[in-house]
Amino acid sequence: MAARNPVPSLGHVVVIGGCGFLGSHIVSLIIKRHPDTTVSVLDLRTSSNRNASSQVSYHDADITDLDLLLKLFSQLKPDCVIHTASPHFHLPPAVHDKVNIGGTKNLLKAAQETGVKAFVYTSSAGVVLGPQTELVNATEEWPMVTGDAQPEYYTTTKAYAEIAVLEANRTPASFLTCAIRPAGIFGEGDVQLLPPIIGAYRKGQTKFQVGPNDNLFDFTYVENVAYGHLLAAQALLHTHKMLPTVPLDHERVDGEAFFITNGQPVYFWDFARAVWHECGDRLPLSKVWKLNADFASGVGFLLEWIFWAIGKTPNLTRKQVRYSTVYKYHNIDKAKKRLGYAPLVDLDEGVRRGVRHHLENEAKQAQKKDQ
Ligand SMILES: *[C@@H]1O[C@H](CO)[C@@H](O)[C@H](O)[C@H]1NC(C)=O
Ligand SMILES: *[C@@H]1O[C@H](CO)[C@@H](O)[C@H](O)[C@H]1NC(C)=O
Ligand SMILES: *[C@@H]1O[C@H](CO)[C@@H](O)[C@H](O)[C@H]1NC(C)=O
Repeated sequence: MAARNPVPSLGHVVVIGGCGFLGSHIVSLIIKRHPDTTVSVLDLRTSSNRNASSQVSYHDADITDLDLLLKLFSQLKPDCVIHTASPHFHLPPAVHDKVNIGGTKNLLKAAQETGVKAFVYTSSAGVVLGPQTELVNATEEWPMVTGDAQPEYYTTTKAYAEIAVLEANRTPASFLTCAIRPAGIFGEGDVQLLPPIIGAYRKGQTKFQVGPNDNLFDFTYVENVAYGHLLAAQALLHTHKMLPTVPLDHERVDGEAFFITNGQPVYFWDFARAVWHECGDRLPLSKVWKLNADFASGVGFLLEWIFWAIGKTPNLTRKQVRYSTVYKYHNIDKAKKRLGYAPLVDLDEGVRRGVRHHLENEAKQAQKKDQ
C-alpha cells in the first residue's frame, strides 16, 4: 500500500480566537491533519472549546493590548499566525474599530517584530456586498464596499482590517500575509446561523418564506473554512522557503484574498428547509406560504432570524428582507487553483452534523434543568 502524502508541519502556529466557533475548528483540524505542528491559542477567555491534545496550549490575551502581544509573541516565537478573532456584530461600532482594526494592527506589529513568517487573516465575503449589489459568482476582483456606501459598520471594519493585513505583506520581506473570506459559516458550535433557523422551526414558522426562492446563496460548513485557512498557511510557509523568489502572479498566495465557500450555492430557503428537515420537519412545499418581499418588510416577527445568516443587525427592515431574496454566491476558482482547495465536507453532510450537534446540546441542557 502506498503511504499517504505526508502533510507538512506548520511549525508553531498561534491561533487568535482559538476558543471561538471557527477558531476551535481550526485547532481541531490542525491536530487531525498536522500531528507535528504545535498550537498556541490566544483568546480573551480560554475556558470554552478547549482541546485536550498535548499539541495545544492556551493563553488569555486581549488583542487590543499591544504590550502583552509583544511579550507573548517574543516568548512563543510562532512561525505562523491565524487570526480569527472578531467581536460579535451586535456590539457597538467603537468595539469593532478597536478589535477588528486596532487589534489586527497590533497583531501585525507583534508578528512583524518577532519574525513571524506567515499571517492568515479571517476576513468576510461580506466585504464586497453593498446595498445595491447582487453577488452572482463574485470573484475576488469585485471592489470592496466600505465607508458610507457600506450600511454595516462591522463589515467596513473587516474590510479595513483585511486591507491592513494585505498591505503588510512582505514588510519586512520575510513576512507573508493573506486573507480568507468565508461566506455564511455554519456547523457544530455555531451560535449565529443554525440556532435562529432551528428556533424558527420550534416556533412553527416553517410555513413561511419570503420571495419566490430564486436567489442562490453560499453557506459554508465550518471545517471547510478551517481547511481553507490551513491550506493558506501551508502555501505561505512554502513561499517563505523559496524566498527571495516571488511566485508568478497567477500562482501567488501572499498579499492575496480568497473566497472560501462550499462551492455549492443553493436557493436561500432550501438551506433553511434542509435544516428543518434534519430537525424532523416534513411540511410539504405545497403548504408553504410565499410572502411577497415588500409585504414581508412589514411583518418583522416572522423573520427574526434571517439576517443572522449574513451577520446583520436584528431589525427587520426592507433592507434586511432583501437579504433573503438577494443573490449572494461567490466563485472559488482562485482558492482551488492557488491553494489546492476543495471542500472536505458537502453541504448535506455539514447540515446533518451541525443540526445533530445542536439538538444533542439542547437535549443535554434540558436534562440539566430537569435534575
Ligand atoms: C480535539 O481535536 C481532535 C482532532 O481533530 C478532535 O477529534 C476533537 O473533537 C477535538 N476536541 C475538542 C474538544 O474540540
Ligand atoms: C462561476 O464561474 C465559473 C468560472 O467562470 C464557472 O466555472 C462556474 O460554473 C460558475 N458557477 C456558477 C454557479 O454559475
Ligand atoms: C434596531 O432597533 C433598535 C431598537 O428598536 C434601534 O435602536 C436601532 O437603531 C435599530 N437599528 C437599525 C440598524 O435599524
